[in-house]
Amino acid sequence: MAFGLNSDFLTREQLESLGFSKIGHDVLIHSTAVIVNCSRISIGSRVRIDPFVVISNRGGVEFGNNVHIGSHSVLAGAGEIRLGDFVNISHYVGIYTSNEDTSGRTLSHPTVPGGGARSASIIFGRHSGVGHGSMVLPGARFDEGSILGAMSRISRPMKAWTNYAGVPARRMTERRRDTLAFEEEYLASLRTP
Ligand SMILES: CC(C)(COP(=O)(O)OP(=O)(O)OC[C@H]1O[C@@H](n2cnc3c(N)ncnc32)[C@H](O)[C@@H]1OP(=O)(O)O)[C@@H](O)C(=O)NCCC(=O)NCCS
Repeated sequence: MAFGLNSDFLTREQLESLGFSKIGHDVLIHSTAVIVNCSRISIGSRVRIDPFVVISNRGGVEFGNNVHIGSHSVLAGAGEIRLGDFVNISHYVGIYTSNEDTSGRTLSHPTVPGGGARSASIIFGRHSGVGHGSMVLPGARFDEGSILGAMSRISRPMKAWTNYAGVPARRMTERRRDTLAFEEEYLASLRTP
């Protein structure tokens, strides 16, 4: 333990023993993260998963490159989750690909198989992100560069390079796309020996 109490990230050997379907290089997964169904999870390079994250998504998860998942965030449900390059999920974010059936017409409960939960994939386009404490629910779709602010809720498609916030989330402002030029520079710097 180099720099403080409980600051350990998994070693390369530990990462490889978990059985991910793919794992890139420079991947940091904190030792307190709980990740199940690893054979259905693929991870690109320069991905960081912070302390106390829970990934328990039966529909599989695909991480691109340079993806960050902040502490205490939860990814769960039966639909697929795809996180494109440079996606940033802040802390205490809930990403749920299934919704329980709350109509009262079924026995919809996490301990009971079946039960009428509604599931859908959730896709995060490149350079999209979610602020602290937000809820991302089935039906949400982040186009490239779309951002959901803190303490917000989304269950709908979002437009590219646009900021959303609130409960329910509303469109706020358009984002500039200068990020893409910086991305090119950054990727070029990675190629330079
Ligand atoms: C969405 C966000 C990017 C907008 O920032 P901004 O463009 O500077 O917006 P402002 O603070 O000027 O707010 C503009 C209006 O939107 C409202 N608003 C901003 N963020 C909001 C939010 N998350 N939920 C609800 N309303 C929000 C403000 O109250 C303000 O309303 P008003 O004009 O009626 O006073 C920012 O508020 C936010 O949520 N950032 C995420 C922070 C975070 O989670 N950081 C951790 C990253 S790892």
